[in-house]
Amino acid sequence: MQKFVINGGTRLEGKIQVSGSKNAVLPIAVAAAILGDSVSVLHNVPNLTDVQTLSAVLEGLGASITRKNGSLYIEPINRMEYEAPYDLVRKMRASIYVLGPLVAKLGRAKVSFPGGCAIGPRPVDLHIKGLEHLGAQVEVKRGYIFAQTERLVGAKMNLIGQHGPSVGATANVMMAATLAEGTTVIKGAACEPHINDLAQFLNAMGADIEGIGTSTLTIRGVKQLRGTEHSVISDDIEAGTFIVAAAITNGDVSVEGIAKQQISAVSERLTQAGVQLDWHDTGVRVTTPQQLKSIEVTTAPFPGFPTDMQAQMMGLLSLASGTSTITENVHTDRFIHVAELNRIGADIRLEGRKAKVHGVSSLSGAPVMASDLRAGAVLVVAGMAAAGETVVSRIYHIDRGYEAIEKKLNSIGADIQRVNDSE
Ligand code: UD1
Repeated sequence: MQKFVINGGTRLEGKIQVSGSKNAVLPIAVAAAILGDSVSVLHNVPNLTDVQTLSAVLEGLGASITRKNGSLYIEPINRMEYEAPYDLVRKMRASIYVLGPLVAKLGRAKVSFPGGCAIGPRPVDLHIKGLEHLGAQVEVKRGYIFAQTERLVGAKMNLIGQHGPSVGATANVMMAATLAEGTTVIKGAACEPHINDLAQFLNAMGADIEGIGTSTLTIRGVKQLRGTEHSVISDDIEAGTFIVAAAITNGDVSVEGIAKQQISAVSERLTQAGVQLDWHDTGVRVTTPQQLKSIEVTTAPFPGFPTDMQAQMMGLLSLASGTSTITENVHTDRFIHVAELNRIGADIRLEGRKAKVHGVSSLSGAPVMASDLRAGAVLVVAGMAAAGETVVSRIYHIDRGYEAIEKKLNSIGADIQRVNDSE
C-alpha cells in the first residue's frame, strides 16, 4: 500500500487543470459497452482506479476497452454474459449501473448486491423499484440481484427516495428505459451535471430523452442504440477540491476547465466564507484576501451543496473564525473524516447529522488515515495547510477518484510525496 507524505505550509500558485468527471464517465462507459451496437469513443476520461475497475466489470461481460491518450475506445459486449460477480462489484458500488442496461439489452442480469461502505448504508431499493416499474421481475437472493423480463415496457414512476432523488437509480432506470417499448416518465429524477452528461450521451447514441436537467425525464424507447463519440464533462468535485486547496493555503490559483453553473452551490458558500472567486471563460481564479468566516452548509441533491464536497469544506472551515455548522442530509453517516481532522488540530464536534466546526488558528501535521474517497481528499487538502508533516495512509481511496492528485498539486507548489508503506 502507498501513502502520501505532505510537507505543509506551502502556498499554491499557478494554473491547475480539471480532469473529466468520474461520476459521468462510469455510467457513460456502461451505456457504451452494454447498450451500444458499435464502437464508442470517450474523450477526457480521467485515469482513475474506479474507471479501471469498471472496465474490468465490462470486459467480464464481454466488452473490449482500450485506453489511449485520455480516450476510451469501447467495443460493446458481443456475447451473452449477464453476470457481474461479487469480486468486482465489491470494489466499486457503481458496478450496479450494469443492472438496468443488461436487462434492457439481454433480458436478464445477475449483479452482486453492493454492500454498505464507510459513508454508511447505501440501499438500492430505488434502482429495483424503477426496473420493476418497467416490467422486470427482480429477486434478491444469495447476495445477488437477479432481474429478468421478455421486454421492458415504458411506465410512469416517481423515483424520489427518503433522502431525495437518487443519482444511481436515475441513471440505471434511464439507461434501461432507452430500449424499453413505449414511453417512460421518471419523476423525482436526479439532475446532477453528470446525469445530464449521461442523458446527452444516450441521445447521441440515438435515444430519445427529454427534460434533461430537470426532475422529470421523458424517455421514448427506441429499437437500438449506436456507438458515438463524446467528450466527458469536467469533474465538479475535483474542481471544488482544488478551489478549497487554493483557499486553504492562502494561494492564488486558476482552476481551469470548470464552469460556474456546474458548482454554483459550492461557489456561493465559498464566497460567503470569504474566498474570492473570479470567474472567466475557461475557469476560475481563486484568492483569499481576508480571514475566512464561519458559515452554515447543508448538503442536498443538485442544485444544492453536494455531499461529495462536504468533507473538503469542513477542512477549510476548520480554519475560519467562529463556528460553522455543516448538516449532512444525503449520506447521513458521512462524518468519518471528523476524527482524522481533529487529529491534525481541528475542533469539530458531532451532533447527530450536524457537525459544529469551531475555527482554530492553525493545524499541525500528524499521521492520518483515508477512510473513503472524499474523506481522503480533505486530509490531503488540510495536510497542505498544516504545519509540519502529515502522512496520509490508505491513499488507494483517493486514487479511486483523483487522477495523480499529488502531481497536479505539486505542479502548483504543494510538497506531496507518494511513498510505499514500508518506506
Ligand atoms: C452518487 C455518487 C456519489 C454521491 C451521490 C450523491 C456516483 C458513482 N456516485 O452515488 O459520489 O455521493 O451520488 O450525490 O455517481 N438511496 C436510497 N435508495 C436507493 C438509492 C439511493 O435510499 O436505491 C439514498 C442513498 O442512501 C442516499 C441518497 O439516496 O441517501 C442519494 O444516493 P444516490 O444519489 O443514489 O447516490 P449514488 O448514486 O450511490
